[in-house]
Amino acid sequence: MTDTSALSVENISKRYQDGNRQIDVIRDLSFRVAAGESLSVTGPSGSGKSTLLNLLAGLLELDSGDIILRLNDGPFTYRHADERGRTRLRRQHIGYVYQFFNLVPTLTALENVCLPARLNRRPDLEQRAPALLEEFGLGDRLHDYPELLSGGEQQRVAVARSLILKPTLLLADEPTGNLDADNSSHVADLLFSSCRDENISLVIATHSNEVATRADSTLHLDRKSPC
Ligand SMILES: Nc1ncnc2c1ncn2[C@@H]1O[C@H](COP(=O)(O)OP(=O)(O)OP(=O)(O)O)[C@@H](O)[C@H]1O
Ligand SMILES: [Mg+2]
Repeated sequence: MTDTSALSVENISKRYQDGNRQIDVIRDLSFRVAAGESLSVTGPSGSGKSTLLNLLAGLLELDSGDIILRLNDGPFTYRHADERGRTRLRRQHIGYVYQFFNLVPTLTALENVCLPARLNRRPDLEQRAPALLEEFGLGDRLHDYPELLSGGEQQRVAVARSLILKPTLLLADEPTGNLDADNSSHVADLLFSSCRDENISLVIATHSNEVATRADSTLHLDRKSPC
């Protein structure tokens, strides 16, 4: 059968070498995510959730196996790409939301959301930033700096920023880990509904069962011990 998933992860492995110790963080892992569908990644601290997301972002090199992301202009194969190619892929086609928001403190909410579009010289996409922030309940906070925003508001800005380029893949690493229950639920709603509406594949690492069970499928990683 032909694989038409947006994201295909085929038998990937990643080992860290720490002095004499080796940790097989990801061992022979395979999964697929269709366009517009979501996968939650759960597991205890140290089980490799962030490592997996960093492999999907092209920030780390695979030891074996391959990742294929199907873009509009054809499939991108991670193993065949050099670092420049993976950086370009990440800048243009992948959104990333972190636990600690990572907004630029010297830029307003609106400027933070516009930044990826500006760096990619996409004024057409930059124009949709005010509407996106409005949709996320931040229409009256466009010109505020991050320090004036609550944690939940900052994370909504970070989600808007990750969506501005209409990425093929959105990675979220414990995006609600720093929020109270109400804000966590609101941010999770925005992530899941935006990705579904815009046909974006979402991979979300989370410690929250409530967030994990909202995804179309779940991947559980086990605790790792050095060998
Ligand atoms: N650069 C590195 N060098 C060596 N070992 C590393 C490196 N980065 C991570 N590790 C180890 O790999 C394992 C997986 O780490 P990772 O950060 O992916 O886990 P995690 O599931 O995201 O944990 P958490 O829930 O605490 O965020 C851990 O044992 C960690 O110590
Ligand atoms: Mg982590």
